[in-house]
Amino acid sequence: METITSIVEMKRAAGSLRREGRTIALVPTMGALHEGHLSLIREADARADIVVVSVFVNPTQFGPLEDFDTYKRDLERDISLAQEAGCDIIFAPGVDDMYPEGSATRVCVSGLTEKLCGAFRPGHFDGVCTVVAKLLNIVRPHLAVFGQKDGQQAAVVERMVSDLDMGVEILRSKTVRESDGLAMSSRNANLSEIERREATVLYRSLEHAVSRYGAGERSVERVVSEMRDMIDAGETTEIQYVAAVDAKTLEDVDELKRGVMLALAVFVGKTRLIDNVIIGA
Ligand code: PAF
Repeated sequence: METITSIVEMKRAAGSLRREGRTIALVPTMGALHEGHLSLIREADARADIVVVSVFVNPTQFGPLEDFDTYKRDLERDISLAQEAGCDIIFAPGVDDMYPEGSATRVCVSGLTEKLCGAFRPGHFDGVCTVVAKLLNIVRPHLAVFGQKDGQQAAVVERMVSDLDMGVEILRSKTVRESDGLAMSSRNANLSEIERREATVLYRSLEHAVSRYGAGERSVERVVSEMRDMIDAGETTEIQYVAAVDAKTLEDVDELKRGVMLALAVFVGKTRLIDNVIIGA
């Protein structure tokens, strides 16, 4: 496995792989790899000849009060985990390389980015879209793999790729969960013992919604209100949002049906966690 830190070198390597007729899959990450990322890498490995994993903690997607400075960074550990999962090239550029002085362009997908997480994290998706567009331009993959856990991010990236005719396939990969259902996230490591216990309510409330749907309930209003009650019962939990939207367009819906994404963001103590399920997925 190779580690590349320069953009020029990454472009050169990708260009020669393409000329040799090899298919390339990109798994964009901010490092702090966990089982969720490794499953994206395995999925990429099953579908392409070469898997490139980018490791870049992207400053433009963090708000001023968010955890950019304290975000866990351990490249050596990420390299060895990624290699075991089937990664061929780690691309780990520096901030000054990705955003040199004078860089002034931002990619902004309107509408979809203004709700759910976007309503509480202004500018976040502009940062995500800008860095993802740059990574796609540098690596020029045939396929890029994103986790369904960040369901809004996946929908926004799909929109951007389609709107800008970027010619890359976007694959949404299933959320990987701990044995008690908590979605894997680098931020789970910040939870205290009681917070970790209470954090399971995110998935329990989503499962509750799916089982209410299974029992014939179709009212978003009723189901969301039951989910909110479950989450509010915790001592350390504070809801940011609980919503039901179309999984692709992110438009609000008031009836539960196949293809509806139930999504939530909850502070558990000081840690903000997100999760979602798609009905019928
Ligand atoms: O999901 C993430 O880790 C990031 O938002 C991404 C896609 C790597 C862009 O920085």
